[in-house]
Amino acid sequence: MTGPFDRLDEILPADVLTVVHRMTPIPTVAGRAGAIAKQDPNFVRGDIGQVVGLDPSIEVLYGPPVGLEPLREAVAEFWTRTFRLDDPAYLGHSLGAENVTITTGAAEALTLLFRCFGAGKNVGLPRGYWENYLNGVGLSGGNAVVVDYFAESGELDLAGLGRDVDEKNVKCLVANFPCNPTGAVLTEEDARAIAAFLRERDLILIADEVYARLRFDGGAPISLLAYAPERVVSLSSASKEYLIPGARIGYVVSDRAELTNAVLRKLVRANTASPNVPGQRMVLEMMTKDLEALRAGDEPAMLKKIRAELGQRKTALVEVLRKHGFDVVGRPGHEPMGTIFLMASLPNWWKDGDEEFVEAALERSAFSAIPGSAFGLAGSVRFSFGSMSLEAVAELDRRLSAWESDRG
Ligand SMILES: Cc1ncc(COP(=O)(O)O)c(C=O)c1O
Repeated sequence: MTGPFDRLDEILPADVLTVVHRMTPIPTVAGRAGAIAKQDPNFVRGDIGQVVGLDPSIEVLYGPPVGLEPLREAVAEFWTRTFRLDDPAYLGHSLGAENVTITTGAAEALTLLFRCFGAGKNVGLPRGYWENYLNGVGLSGGNAVVVDYFAESGELDLAGLGRDVDEKNVKCLVANFPCNPTGAVLTEEDARAIAAFLRERDLILIADEVYARLRFDGGAPISLLAYAPERVVSLSSASKEYLIPGARIGYVVSDRAELTNAVLRKLVRANTASPNVPGQRMVLEMMTKDLEALRAGDEPAMLKKIRAELGQRKTALVEVLRKHGFDVVGRPGHEPMGTIFLMASLPNWWKDGDEEFVEAALERSAFSAIPGSAFGLAGSVRFSFGSMSLEAVAELDRRLSAWESDRG
């Protein structure tokens, strides 16, 4: 099936197309010169814009804008295996290096994708959105509007989403499941229904799947890319996969190589020249271990460890919060089942707003959390159990008890 990603020259903004089609002699010559130099060690390189040969032991050279080739290959295999893309029930084929662009974190991936698909348009953010989307959409010249994926019953509500899309004239949607901040996850049935919805309305969807593997409900990881590849572009991040946010490595995955290999090549070069090279090497090493396990049909050891620990922390945190009069909110009727976050309604003993609650908790030097208003969910607070050990959850319990008893 064809879709918007098969017509990029028609749908990308004119200024993006100018960057994409502008001749770039520096990388073009560098690519050819590099190939010749491999054959001829005495080939004279007069094209390189960095000091080389002074102290090779400390030199860290620019990498290709789209990322180191072995890492692109690894991400393509990792995505294919994690989401079973080669199964005819999904994509029906594997992805290759050309389907991957390495970026400076998911943050750069989002900025560039908003620039491509959100500029001058209304971009639909799910209620309960990562608040930094607002900045990315705004900086790329788009306008963020909030849409609801779920009904009050907690069911996926595509009729309601359709009304939001029509009323707010949305052209590009963002999905983030498992969701930061609510921990909401999709079922496979939900994913198929969303894909059909996108097709009916000829929409583009940016799928922020940084937490795809961090599910605690036993459900297999889901990538929306598998269901509507002609209009869904996915992104993820080593920050979340491997707990190394400071390495600043993210990636965009698309079934349409024109997007990842051509368009984003030019945009990344314009934006950051290349993603962090030592960071990419670090990720490659970690991902290679994961791939060995996936090829053997096993769950990667590190993921297993992270999921077990985070699952315990989440369960303990929910118990403590409920004990103190909070409840979990997000996808109604569903426990938070992924990510490192959960949203809690304000405790029944707190009569003021969410910002005041967080302010009071900080004022008491008791604990920190983020007001739900920041995510479009006023009246709630976001707790991270990524940063809370089981001991810290027990300490939270004691501090909430102390607060309650001070209130009398
Ligand atoms: C939903 C979501 N998307 C993207 C990011 C950005 O990740 P990165 O560190 O790769 O830029 C975050 C970081 O918290 C996030 O929660």
